[in-house]
Amino acid sequence: MRYSEHSIEYIDVLVIGSGGAGLRSAIEAKTSGVSVKILGKRPKEDSHTVLAAGGINAAFGNLDKEDCWQQHFADTYIEGYGIGDHKAIEIMAKESMNIVIEIDKWGANLAKINNRDFDQRFFGAHTYRRTCYSGDFTGKSIIKALLKRSQELSIPINDYEYVTDLLTKDSKCFGAMSLNIKSGERTAHIAKSVILATGGHTRIWKRSSSRRHENNGDGFYLGLKAGCSLINMEMVQFHPTGMIFPDDIAGTLVTEAVRGEGGILRNSKGERFMKKYDSKRMELSTRDRVTIANYTEIIEGRGTERGGVYLDISHKDKAFILEKIPSIHRQFVEFQMLDISEKPMEVAPTAHYSMGGLVVSPEEHFTGIEGLYAAGEVVGGLHGANRLGGNSLAEILIFGKRAGKFAAKHAKNIKYQDPNKNVINSAHGRINSRIKSGKDNGLDLTNELGDLMWRHCGVIRNDQSLKLGLEKLRDIKIRIEKLNVQIDSGNYEDLIIALNLEAETISAEATLLSALERKESRGAHQRKDYPKREESERLNYYIKLSNIGELDISKKSIKNIDNQLLRDYINKTEKITTFEGKLLE
Ligand code: FUM
Repeated sequence: MRYSEHSIEYIDVLVIGSGGAGLRSAIEAKTSGVSVKILGKRPKEDSHTVLAAGGINAAFGNLDKEDCWQQHFADTYIEGYGIGDHKAIEIMAKESMNIVIEIDKWGANLAKINNRDFDQRFFGAHTYRRTCYSGDFTGKSIIKALLKRSQELSIPINDYEYVTDLLTKDSKCFGAMSLNIKSGERTAHIAKSVILATGGHTRIWKRSSSRRHENNGDGFYLGLKAGCSLINMEMVQFHPTGMIFPDDIAGTLVTEAVRGEGGILRNSKGERFMKKYDSKRMELSTRDRVTIANYTEIIEGRGTERGGVYLDISHKDKAFILEKIPSIHRQFVEFQMLDISEKPMEVAPTAHYSMGGLVVSPEEHFTGIEGLYAAGEVVGGLHGANRLGGNSLAEILIFGKRAGKFAAKHAKNIKYQDPNKNVINSAHGRINSRIKSGKDNGLDLTNELGDLMWRHCGVIRNDQSLKLGLEKLRDIKIRIEKLNVQIDSGNYEDLIIALNLEAETISAEATLLSALERKESRGAHQRKDYPKREESERLNYYIKLSNIGELDISKKSIKNIDNQLLRDYINKTEKITTFEGKLLE
């Protein structure tokens, strides 16, 4: 195939991403009566959602009768340090019960008590037991159920399709260009509506709970180029417990369910150190606090020789461990020959979730660019400065469904735009410009970027280090232009790495810039030089791509919550958590 050839395919709604948000949005669009197609970079059974382990939140109150959606709202809002989008949080808290019932009906097979009601486990910083689950493989169960439903509806899912560009003209999105990772074939997909469900960008940190070729920031890149804005990119969640060895899997998630089921954190002196950081909630404090605790113990010299802390659940029966966290048991046997029912695990923080991302309207998940919607981790704002574990699986299903509904509604009301030749040619041009001889190797640059983000934009940040990170990033961007990218024997791997690097570096730059600009410490954004949360910084930071291709940053104040009932819940909850300081005026 020559480098200007492509096939053209027409579809009402094009979904980019085959994880939970993508599948749920496609199902909704299809049942609304339009044609739908999904493009995924990875095999559909192995999208990033399968790594979501511990559970999905819904305030059923099956075990703790006092629970209700208003309390779920208050917990999420407070622990996001008052900058989460309260409209979106309200929708999530209200709709999560129905979405959990639905996914269970579709085959997710969530754990039950008395063979009837959903079992619910504790997850960090939830006032009540609220997290529904299937073992420690809830994401896998959900993907299985969504794939079954998609198959019943005959929704085509094309694996190994890497989307290189959105096709936009006059601020309208009319499709996307994709490159098949295996064959190199290019397709211009002409669509009436497009849904981005591409995930976040936490793979760009050296230690990450994501695998290669997932969460590379490609959705942020595509969105920015189409004219969308990003919000609060500095808010990157580091999960407190990732594996630390062997090297090639360092960062792999050790689910919060381990702590939810009774796991205890200790330092090398045997101290249960969470007492110092959150004496009430201990290991089930918020993620940001447990992460800071683990990080502090390690850098202050109370960690293990390998640079971790101990996470111990060996006081529980083996049968209990095998029932509640079987995958974690298997993971440690497989990679470390360690039986966690006998010995503690060694863990350390790992980059886990992008809480910043594309700006959308909370109800429709519309990006502001005609025809373009987004759902899941690619969207920012719901979680504010700290995400509660178990909220992301609720998020992808609820807002996937909403994005699908509104994308279908839009598609029903318009005709296909003409496939503009110039726009399509320039999408070819971008791919072609990457194929050339050069002296730099893409994987080397990817590793350098991972080091840079870990060192300069990690758990604790400061002005000098962030600025140095931006300088090093400039150097990497120059060297991307000198990458050696050949297509030998039909191998497109180097080309994909080069395209990833473009998305990764722009996502890195947006994160560094936003982290530099927010001069306070709030949740996951911790600045050594600004150690306090500042009321004057209770703002959202936005990033856009300028006409000359530079990232512009701006800030806006946050709207107050006008619903008195929800304000009452927030006031009441602030009194019983260890949260310091009020979020309402
Ligand atoms: O630890 C976990 O199981 C992760 C859950 C989540 O990020 O929601």
